[in-house]
Amino acid sequence: MKIQVNLAACLTALCLFPACSRGAEPIPVEQAQAMTQELTKALMGELQSTMAAEGPAAAIRVCADLAPEKAQAIATEELTVRRVGTRVRNSKTNTPTAAEREVLAGLTPEQPTFSGQVDGHEVFIQGIFIPNAMCLVCHGEREAIPAEVRDALAQRYPDDQAVGYAVGDLRGALIVERRR
Ligand code: HEC
Repeated sequence: MKIQVNLAACLTALCLFPACSRGAEPIPVEQAQAMTQELTKALMGELQSTMAAEGPAAAIRVCADLAPEKAQAIATEELTVRRVGTRVRNSKTNTPTAAEREVLAGLTPEQPTFSGQVDGHEVFIQGIFIPNAMCLVCHGEREAIPAEVRDALAQRYPDDQAVGYAVGDLRGALIVERRR
């Protein structure tokens, strides 16, 4: 009986330990930064060209569909990247945890990144500050958003909070963490 208990304890330790130690290992900052830069560059480029060619209502699909697709494509076997908002448009997928929210509150344009433990595991967080007025077409003051965009957003995101931003505001963050 005693041996069985010990065996079970051993197996548990063997199974759990690698996962624990992986979660505690710092995220390689250069790799994480390269991932967030690649995602930002791809989205900005695609947003700009789609806005210019097809208008802002059509460009909704870039922030809504291409962003998660591209994030998945950039993810590696070990690391994933996801987006969160300070005020959130897609509350299903982009809501930060309370602890992530606290980290976000401490980010500034001078210190826009954070590396360390959040919610018991290592993360790399890259703050997103609104870089230019293009973002405000869909994230600015609600009354200033073109009517067709406002209608399309209202239909797709009935609890949309991601408006009222100005250039330079912290819009959200990209979070790199280990696959769990
Ligand atoms: C054409 C409209 C449009 C433009 C322009 C736009 N966004 Fe978005 N944004 C959206 C939509 C729609 C979502 C919801 C995405 C989803 O469903 O995951 C979103 C979500 C986000 C999120 C994730 C958090 C959340 O609220 O769900 C961030 C961060 C973000 N946008 C940043 C930006 C930045 C920075 C810019 C300018 C470079 C920008 N957006 C320009 C439409 C837009």
